[in-house]
Amino acid sequence: MFVEKLFLKSYRNLKDLELNLSNGVNIFYGNNAQGKTNLLEAIYIASTGRSHRTHYDKDIIDFTAPSAHIKAIVREENVIDKIDIHIKRDSKKGIAINGLPIKKLSELFGHLNVVIFSPEDLSLIKSGPSERRKFIDIQLCQIDNVYCYNLVQYYKVLKQRNNFLKKISIQNSLKENIFIWDEQLIQFAKKIIDKRTDFINSINKISKDIHKKITNGKEDLELIYKPSVFSDNIQEKIEKNIEKDILYKTTSYGPHKDDFLFFINDTNAKDFGSQGQQRTASLSTKLAQIKIIEEQKNSSPVLLLDDVLSELDNDRQKFLIENIKNMQVIITCTGVEDVVKNLKKECKIFKVENGCIFENF
Ligand SMILES: Nc1ncnc2c1ncn2[C@@H]1O[C@H](COP(=O)(O)OP(=O)(O)OP(=O)(O)O)[C@@H](O)[C@H]1O
Ligand SMILES: [Mg+2]
Repeated sequence: MFVEKLFLKSYRNLKDLELNLSNGVNIFYGNNAQGKTNLLEAIYIASTGRSHRTHYDKDIIDFTAPSAHIKAIVREENVIDKIDIHIKRDSKKGIAINGLPIKKLSELFGHLNVVIFSPEDLSLIKSGPSERRKFIDIQLCQIDNVYCYNLVQYYKVLKQRNNFLKKISIQNSLKENIFIWDEQLIQFAKKIIDKRTDFINSINKISKDIHKKITNGKEDLELIYKPSVFSDNIQEKIEKNIEKDILYKTTSYGPHKDDFLFFINDTNAKDFGSQGQQRTASLSTKLAQIKIIEEQKNSSPVLLLDDVLSELDNDRQKFLIENIKNMQVIITCTGVEDVVKNLKKECKIFKVENGCIFENF
């Protein structure tokens, strides 16, 4: 699938624009702070309904406007989907697909699959567990609506349970009712843990293979799921820790505390890997994500590369470009020459300057 056209209205500093994109490589170059990441973000929002860089939808509205629009025409062979997102300053955002408003965000998933690779992803291995959970959750949500639903429900129940713990700390007699939240929490937690286990197993197999190729057989990458608690003992853990939970007014065990570890040649890459090794491991995992989407959806996702090529050495750049041949790629960079030198095929080049986008002929 690919984004054929993108329309933006009152969107960050890009304000109003209409773009025709190539189904191959599209390069957006320009100086810092011109609007390159903003453009990738708009495509990401068209895919997931949310920004990858802010929790607040309103941030994307042009400072001087009451609302913003993102419209994307997505083509998959002869089928065209029109995604329309309207973000308002003082009411809920509206999303329509082919002119029909949707009720749940999850209805948007699958109409436009994207994989984004940004400088933050390169530091995924050394960042905190919450970043790694987000990384895995975003990947899983794109291919599995049921997982996405269970995750949203889990976090809702978790919030309610934590609020109830606060009430118990004031009125201890309420304690006997905590089981109402525990039952639901455990039910959703088990589904999440089981899905994460399967997903990590399959992504591990693929990324291991890719990583071997990038490192010329020198490195063995192992992605390991470290759940805070396993499905079969979550009930026991939750029950045993109730006093501690009441004391700290928070839930100490569950998928919200999970982590994912990267081992290179049997050592933890977070503690012992070089910066280059950590980046390569992130790259292998991202490429594995593309393969999984291709397998499950029978179609390639759109790859968004935000200023990452310059962060990789020449061999890794070449490897990446070799492996993304048959999909739409949208690249941002400051210097266009470095990127073009490794690309053997034709690409569409755009210059981004002060929120305006010019196509280079
Ligand atoms: N809601 C908004 N309304 C208007 N302008 C905004 C809004 N949000 C962000 N901007 C502006 O958009 C500009 C461009 O941001 P962007 O992150 O896209 O730059 P970039 O081209 O990716 O730069 P870099 O190369 O440094 O990553 C910023 O200078 C910022 O002030
Ligand atoms: Mg940027």
